[in-house]
Amino acid sequence: MGSEQGLKLVRLDEDGIDLNFRDDVLAGLRQDPKAVPARWFYDEAGSRLFEEITRLPEYYPTRAEKEILSTRGAEFAELIGPGRAVVEFGSGSSVKTPLLLRAIDPAAYVPLDISGDFLRASAAELAAKFPGLPVYPVEADFNREVELPGAVAGMPKLGFFPGSTIGNMVARTAVDLLRVMRATLGENSQLLIGMDLIKDVAVLEAAYDDASGVTARFNLNLAVRINCELGGTIPVDALRHVARWNDDYARIEMHLEATRPIAFEVAGEAFAMAAGETIHTENSHKFDRRMANVLLLAGGWTPVKRWTDGEGRFSLILADATRPRGAP
Ligand code: AVJ
Repeated sequence: MGSEQGLKLVRLDEDGIDLNFRDDVLAGLRQDPKAVPARWFYDEAGSRLFEEITRLPEYYPTRAEKEILSTRGAEFAELIGPGRAVVEFGSGSSVKTPLLLRAIDPAAYVPLDISGDFLRASAAELAAKFPGLPVYPVEADFNREVELPGAVAGMPKLGFFPGSTIGNMVARTAVDLLRVMRATLGENSQLLIGMDLIKDVAVLEAAYDDASGVTARFNLNLAVRINCELGGTIPVDALRHVARWNDDYARIEMHLEATRPIAFEVAGEAFAMAAGETIHTENSHKFDRRMANVLLLAGGWTPVKRWTDGEGRFSLILADATRPRGAP
């Protein structure tokens, strides 16, 4: 599994500190404006809070995507067909992946994840639900080209990237990832990708700033995690959760805003924030049909079919690996 990659995915120092986390946080806090990559939200507490977010009345994306997956099975079967190896980018969520697998009669399932623990848990869960379906989990960072298991080498691939996770990336990074996915999946592959849609700003902002404060706790947990894991002294009570729509970039931004001037240390390094200054913690880009198509085309994927939920809030797009060919 992971060891075949010959690449250390997680670097820990002798005190068990995650050096990638430390380096990202220190580099991000030295910047102006301050920013920390959103991937660091997902420690155990953060992952649990995200699960809670997916059940909030304001947070529509998960329900909308599940609705599409559970109502469009016949169309998936027709356009994707049987016999593909389904390669999921990120550990399969226990609900979405079975909806897809049940619809298309795949030949194998290959979940990719950087976290071996999540990976093994979700692979085992899936294997139990689909006896007879070969499951080959691969511990890997899918932002780089991944060598898939030899057992699926001869099978056409279907990449699955649900949840609008692509929306966490700015266009340049998203295009890089789409191109890497194409390299990982090979010729004649397909990609089924979730992309959240642009909509009423009040609906979007409520989805990222819910009345019960779960998303605020999710955002603030990053500061808590920095304090716990990196010897931080951030006064968490002086930070407030902010979620705002950036219309120029069509994205919800989450920030941690200082409510008063503060000074703190992280891993022995001193930092200060003025009142009103923020740490930018997440982008969640939203798309319309044309933006989604342009992004996919830039990444080497030709859109073939697009589905939305009944309320037109979320889209799931099927794309073919673009074949190199002459074009006007
Ligand atoms: C997991 C990246 C899809 O952007 O909607 C939810 C993460 N952040 N609420 C999203 C998230 C705040 C989520 N993604």
